[in-house]
Amino acid sequence: MPRKSRTQLIKPRIREILSQELPEGLVQLLPKHWVQIGDVLILPLREELEPYKRRIAEVYAEVIGAKTVLRKGHISGEFRETNYELLYGRDTVTIHVENGIKYKLDVDRVMFSPANVKERVRMAKVAKPGELVVDMFAGIGHLSLPMAVHGKARVIAIEKSPYTFSFLIENIELNGVQDRMTAYNIDNRDFQGENIADRVLMGYVIKTAEFIPKALSIAKDEAVIHYHNTVPERLRPREPFETFQRIAKEHGYEAEKLNELVIKRYAPGVWHVVVDVRVFKQ
Ligand SMILES: C[S@@+](CC[C@H](N)C(=O)[O-])C[C@H]1O[C@@H](n2cnc3c(N)ncnc32)[C@H](O)[C@@H]1O
Repeated sequence: MPRKSRTQLIKPRIREILSQELPEGLVQLLPKHWVQIGDVLILPLREELEPYKRRIAEVYAEVIGAKTVLRKGHISGEFRETNYELLYGRDTVTIHVENGIKYKLDVDRVMFSPANVKERVRMAKVAKPGELVVDMFAGIGHLSLPMAVHGKARVIAIEKSPYTFSFLIENIELNGVQDRMTAYNIDNRDFQGENIADRVLMGYVIKTAEFIPKALSIAKDEAVIHYHNTVPERLRPREPFETFQRIAKEHGYEAEKLNELVIKRYAPGVWHVVVDVRVFKQ
């Protein structure tokens, strides 16, 4: 008989325990999917389960082996902060290992989207040894740590939030890339470097277009910009590249689309996409 995966064993065990404690009918509403970041769980819980939420969280934590459980919320604001309800445990700081990279973060306060994993892995492959990457929205090093660790690129990582920045600094050390990764706790619009980057990362959404002129000034006369943005379905595939190209032209740059990928569905009818753009100074 084929052996069952850990998740296949976890779900029946959770149901077995909770079916003895929850009113009939509610067991079917228990979450079948969850997100695990390090040893912190993020559970989506339906309203009907509200009176039992703490016990449910405790059982999930014990069976899965997590120290803390948060209830799923929404990511919002300039610093892309999360908005969770603490259901079980206290400590929300953890180390998540993905693709050989150690990411230390506070899951309760810092965004870490499992849906962006493909992009984090892709960035490890596109970076080339020795090239200079400027990450304008570094977070905890989500996209640029893989470039420094696996791609052996030199990285300048800019992060405005002091709290997120504290993890970025720790992650540079944890992954042993102090020799090729430097971090600045500033607004990227105040960054002084000009005409220096072979590659610019713009891992941000909604307002990314406002930062295109700054990205162009950081880029060398010929460079690649990984431009993320959110775009309504009805504007694809023209956008978001058309806006990028127009702004680039206004600033004296040609822009050529190399590639476009969907990162994830951001909201109903809205996609988070990344466009790889080669820019040339005219
Ligand atoms: C959504 S997170 C994305 C992290 C990573 N780039 C990714 O795509 O997975 C964006 C980060 O940009 C930071 N940020 C927002 N505006 C910024 C600015 N003007 N200068 C520097 N960092 C900024 C936020 O604090 C947040 O940590």
